[in-house]
Amino acid sequence: KGKPTVILGVFVADTAYRASRQPRMGETLLGSAFKLGPGGKGSNQAVAAARLGADVSFITRLGRDPFADMALTTWREAGVKPAVIETPESYTGAAYIFVEEESGNNAIIVCPGAATLISPADIEASADLIRSAGVFVTQLEQPIEAAIRALEIAREAGVTTILNPAPAAKLPPEIFALCDYATPNETEAEELTGIAVTSPADARRAGEALLEKGVGAAVVTLGEKGALLVDRDSAEHVPAFAAGPVVETTGAGDAFNGGFAVGLARGLTPAEAVRFGCAVAGISVTRPGTAPSMPELAEVEALLSA
Ligand code: RIB
Ligand code: NA
Repeated sequence: KGKPTVILGVFVADTAYRASRQPRMGETLLGSAFKLGPGGKGSNQAVAAARLGADVSFITRLGRDPFADMALTTWREAGVKPAVIETPESYTGAAYIFVEEESGNNAIIVCPGAATLISPADIEASADLIRSAGVFVTQLEQPIEAAIRALEIAREAGVTTILNPAPAAKLPPEIFALCDYATPNETEAEELTGIAVTSPADARRAGEALLEKGVGAAVVTLGEKGALLVDRDSAEHVPAFAAGPVVETTGAGDAFNGGFAVGLARGLTPAEAVRFGCAVAGISVTRPGTAPSMPELAEVEALLSA
C-alpha cells in the first residue's frame, strides 16, 4: 500500500434538514426530511480515502459522548485509523445542514466542539505519524495554528502537503509556502485572493494568485464545472463527472479532496489525481449524506473507464 495518508481535521455529527427554503428569523418551517449521520470535513476526507483502499490515519479530538461513538464506529467501518485525544471537558461537535429540496444545495453551521481545542502541542504528539506519511491533508475547521504546525512537520519530512482551505477564511501569509497543493472551492478562492470565481478563466487567475503567494500548485474546485489545476507552467481544466441525478452536494468537496490525496499517494500525476478526485465527488453527489456517500474504489474505476 505504500506510505499512509495522514489527515488532520474535525469530525462532527451532521444533522441534515431537507426543506423548500430556509426559515426567516422568528419563523417555524415544516421540513420534509431529517437525517443524522457522520460528517466534518476532515473525517469525511478520511472516510473517502479509506473507502478507496488507502491506509489512512485521522488526527483529531473528540468528546466522550454518543457523537464520539458515532465517529469511532464510522472510522472502524471505513477502515480509518484514529489518532484521537479524548476531551471529556468538551463535546463532540455537530453541523446544522440545510438541504434545499429542489437543487440539493446546502447551507451549513458547524460547531466543532472538542476539535476547537486541537493545539500545536497535540500536533507535536502526532509528529512521528505525520512524518511517516506519503501525503498529509488538512482543512480549516480546527485552529489554524494546529494546521500550520502540522504542515511544517510534514514539509520538513518531505511529505506531500494538501491544504483544503475550507471553510473560507483569511490565512496568515506564511501558510502558503507550506502547501504543495491548495484546493479551494470558488468561495474559498475568492476569500484567499480577492478574485471572484465563477468560470474556469477566473479560477485560473485565482490559482495563479495562490501560486504567487507560495503554494506549489492550486486546484480550484468548481462544482458542476469540475476543477482547474494551476501549476507553474500550465493550467488544466478537468470537467466534472455526471454519474447520475444529483441528490445532495454536501461533502462533495471532501470527496474530491479524499480522492485527490489518494490519487497522489498512488503515484498518479497531479492532473490524473484531479480527475480521480472529480470522479469520487461525482459519485458522492448522487447519494444522500456526506461520509456515507463516499464511493468504493471499484465504483470510481468503473466511472473513470466508462
Ligand atoms: O464539507 C461538508 C462538511 O462540512 C459537513 O459534513 C459538515 O459537517 C461540515 O463540517
Ligand atoms: Na452526498
